[in-house]
Amino acid sequence: MSAHDSALSVPEEVGLLYDRLTALDTEGTGGSLHLGFWDLDDTGVPLVEAADRLTDMMADRLLLRPGHRVLDVGCGLGQPAGRIARRTGAHVTGIAISRDQITRATEIAEAEGLSGQVEFQHADAMELPFPDESFDAAIAIESIFHMPDREQVFREVRRVLRPGGRIVLTDFFARGPIPADKQRHVDRLLRDFIMTLADGDDYLPMLRRAGLRFTELLDITEQSVRPTFQQMSRDNDQLDPVFAEGGDAKFSPADMVDVDEFGSALLTAEKPR
Ligand SMILES: C[S@@+](CC[C@H](N)C(=O)[O-])C[C@H]1O[C@@H](n2cnc3c(N)ncnc32)[C@H](O)[C@@H]1O
Repeated sequence: MSAHDSALSVPEEVGLLYDRLTALDTEGTGGSLHLGFWDLDDTGVPLVEAADRLTDMMADRLLLRPGHRVLDVGCGLGQPAGRIARRTGAHVTGIAISRDQITRATEIAEAEGLSGQVEFQHADAMELPFPDESFDAAIAIESIFHMPDREQVFREVRRVLRPGGRIVLTDFFARGPIPADKQRHVDRLLRDFIMTLADGDDYLPMLRRAGLRFTELLDITEQSVRPTFQQMSRDNDQLDPVFAEGGDAKFSPADMVDVDEFGSALLTAEKPR
């Protein structure tokens, strides 16, 4: 695969990347497409379980009640949306830029008897197809880094949230200058997955400019990024077929285990009342 085809916009390229990933057998991932979260003394917990833990920890910050309307920005195969709906009784609308993910997420929800409680729609997060104030809360699990204009995403999320509504998200950022010998590993990851690292210094000002009030920021790198790359480097070669066409430089989780500067942040913000 060539990660970048100049004829396509970034969201279109990302959509095609996830169409290809959807075609893989992802049974081993449990359907969620994000990193795990571990307590520091339980790194033996499998990734699938630790990934659910991250979903739960994020959803808990939304203080959801039955009937609440939740927007899942970049919903993947809909596994987090289904889990949140089951745990809280909320109604979850997931959007993704990959049409194949939306088809698969809809099929899975039907098979699991969740059709009335979750729904999925192809859309670009930078241009949300929903009326103002149509959601009580929003969640974005490891999706924002694919979107070329984060601030525009946050403006759109603010628009569709009701006053007092919260968003919780995870995003990748550089915790410090990346040493030259590790930079190529980071570059490869960013290139293969069509991502950018957030500007950590500008994140809170950016949320403010978009009209959101930041309420919590956690650096979850040591409990999320590092143990995930460790587990993936031990037992995950599922991504190989997707990148095989890319030729020589193929992303390898093992290369990332020691890149301390590659960080993940969990952020919560709200739309002022
Ligand atoms: C790493 S996956 C995470 C999926 C899901 N949140 C999960 O945790 O299982 C990234 C998701 O972001 C979505 N995405 C990327 N760019 C997008 C955009 N511009 N608009 C909407 N969704 C986007 C992809 O389609 C994919 O579903």
